[in-house]
Amino acid sequence: MTRVRPITEADIPGFHATLDAVARESSFLRGSQAPPLDDVASFVRGNIQTRNPQFVALSDQGSIVGWCDIVRGRGEHESHLGELGMGVMAQWRGAGLGRQF
Ligand SMILES: CC(C)(COP(=O)(O)OP(=O)(O)OC[C@H]1O[C@@H](n2cnc3c(N)ncnc32)[C@H](O)[C@@H]1OP(=O)(O)O)[C@@H](O)C(=O)NCCC(=O)NCCS
Repeated sequence: MTRVRPITEADIPGFHATLDAVARESSFLRGSQAPPLDDVASFVRGNIQTRNPQFVALSDQGSIVGWCDIVRGRGEHESHLGELGMGVMAQWRGAGLGRQF
């Protein structure tokens, strides 16, 4: 079972580790590893402050196994646009978690 909820600052290290694991598969995301922890922390804090939606999925044990975010564009002509990012740890895929997001 998994649980999906909005991300908090306390999730930053777990989100960073999950992002890194999916990025290291090398075929899905922009980089082949997660950006540095400080950059990821700024990204998450920015999403919380600007109310960009970002969610994490937690296992029964409380570890982060996936995430989903939409980063809205800045400025009046782009704020209606958004870039979707999502990932689920390999062993949790295909079980409907992406759909839950
Ligand atoms: C994409 C991803 C988040 C989907 O999560 P998931 O928990 O495996 O997805 P679900 O089991 O909820 O499947 C939901 C639907 O998406 C489809 N789907 C899953 N992965 C897909 C992919 N890579 N491309 C297209 N469709 C996909 C499934 O077939 C399913 O469709 P259906 O319900 O019509 O059969 C996950 O496969 C993943 O992390 N992939 C690697 C990272 C990635 O590609 N991220 C997206 C780029 S930012």
